[in-house]
Amino acid sequence: MNTSMGILNLCRRMVSNNANHFRGIVIQKELESGIEINAATVSKVQSYMEHILNGEEKNGLHFYQAQSHHRIFSLESHPNLVFKTDANLDIAIAKKFSMKNRLENILHAKKICRTHDLGLLVIPNIRLFSVNYDGKNFHFIAEQKMDINPNENAQEELFDQHANHLNKTIGQLALFIMKTGFSDVRWRNIPILNNDTDANGNRKIALIDLEHMTSIDLGLFGDKLFGVRGLVGCVNEQQGRMIIDMAKRILPWSSRIELYAQRALNSRKIELKHYDRVKQFYATKGIVTGRERIEVDLDALGLNLDEQNNSPVRPQSLGQMTRQVIDGLNRWFKKLLMRKS
Ligand SMILES: Nc1ncnc2c1ncn2[C@@H]1O[C@H](COP(=O)(O)OP(=O)(O)O)[C@@H](O)[C@H]1O
Ligand SMILES: [Mg+2]
Repeated sequence: MNTSMGILNLCRRMVSNNANHFRGIVIQKELESGIEINAATVSKVQSYMEHILNGEEKNGLHFYQAQSHHRIFSLESHPNLVFKTDANLDIAIAKKFSMKNRLENILHAKKICRTHDLGLLVIPNIRLFSVNYDGKNFHFIAEQKMDINPNENAQEELFDQHANHLNKTIGQLALFIMKTGFSDVRWRNIPILNNDTDANGNRKIALIDLEHMTSIDLGLFGDKLFGVRGLVGCVNEQQGRMIIDMAKRILPWSSRIELYAQRALNSRKIELKHYDRVKQFYATKGIVTGRERIEVDLDALGLNLDEQNNSPVRPQSLGQMTRQVIDGLNRWFKKLLMRKS
């Protein structure tokens, strides 16, 4: 009897392992669909390798803002893809955060989204490939390019602008963090998709950086020490409370986590108050884009604007000189902003 039960259990386990293995292969196949990497793509990337590793822009090669040991870039020849690789293989191996690990995390994430019906979270399709360069083997991810604004400040604003259509999405993301331990939660890693909603108008979020899945607490509540916002640090007060209520229902709760959660909520509340004051200031000053010219009311400065300098070469009044300084500042800001955009 015992032996037959043992055999039965063994068979069950084998069937279940095989089913899981098979499901894993199916999900990986789905994940790779639509991403073709042929020999021409590999040699194109190979031809750019020196610039990629040095982080130097070149004709047809553009970088995204990323962690210093990563190279995240696009190629004009492949407008629908974003490429990701580790610039420093030693760091990648030591930290076990290679592109291969990303793939494992993404596969896990896909399964969780499917099991829990998290349709407002969009995980881009990816395919892994490798490139030999300088006697080393570099792993690359080719990833479906999402229609997002890559600027972190812009994402902060979008989270505020679309807050009413993000409640369900934030709920799904909170559950996702609780199931996966996704921890590097900050606006630029969870951007809102442009022009993409479900039938009820709920906004969708792209999960484009699932490299770190190390701590539920960090993912939900962040930590200034690690420079991670956490989900509560990315949303409004009401959504922050919703996340904490959900976590209390789902996670084993303790006074330590309660403290952690409340600290995150309080610091977000302070930040939001400050943000409101800044918004009011902008509104009263007519600042809309942040690119407005600096205007100074010279009469209000209390200076004698007619006072002349003593230069025989360039005689000027104080008023003229002040206007030149203001024009110079405006030109300098314009140049700076053009370089940043
Ligand atoms: N699939 C994608 N579609 C569009 N933009 C992306 C995609 N993946 C990354 N990016 C842009 O590149 C930036 C850096 O990529 P990410 O994978 O987060 O690198 P890192 O792990 O170094 O933070 C992102 O913040 C985003 O702006
Ligand atoms: Mg990132």
